[in-house]
Amino acid sequence: MPKRVHLIAGILGPLCLILFFGSTLLVELFGSHASVAQVKSWIVFPGLWIMIPAMAAVGGSGTFLGKSRKGRLVDAKKKRMPLIAANGLLVLVPCAIFLNRWAAAGSVDTTFYLVQAVELIAGAINFVLMGLNVRDGLRMAGRLRKSPARGTGEKC
Ligand code: HEM
Repeated sequence: MPKRVHLIAGILGPLCLILFFGSTLLVELFGSHASVAQVKSWIVFPGLWIMIPAMAAVGGSGTFLGKSRKGRLVDAKKKRMPLIAANGLLVLVPCAIFLNRWAAAGSVDTTFYLVQAVELIAGAINFVLMGLNVRDGLRMAGRLRKSPARGTGEKC
């Protein structure tokens, strides 16, 4: 059960992030102010309401699964998780909430674009960290071949 929860939530979290990131870029580049406001609103609801529980589930189930595992891959995943959580809760969530409020109020000014840039950079960082956790997770689960040159010292 924790394995299944971890797999589903571990795919859902990064998927949400790439959806938020891609839709933000597309709408900022090609959309009207009204469509920017609509996307910002969808990111907060239902977006964050799906992504935050998914990330909590991935952290909880991952910590549980990690108890019985040792090695470089699990250690790396453990180190990345607090960075992902801090970046998500302290940067991405507040950015999404403020951008939604400002877009809804029509105040799309320099501050809006500055915060938008911060959100995109923080989102890209989290996407890379999550991607590395997915890769290492799939390797640990034996679904992805380990890199032959470096080896992993990991027991599957
Ligand atoms: C953003 C955070 C994370 C993501 C996206 C993620 C993603 C994944 C994925 C996709 C798998 C493959 C599951 C499968 O094929 O059945 C996996 C496996 C695994 N993950 Fe994570 N994970 C994350 C965090 C963590 C954390 C914090 C730990 C604990 C230290 C952890 C421990 C494990 C373990 C032990 C496995 C192997 C499970 C098995 O033996 O089948 N993960 N992870």
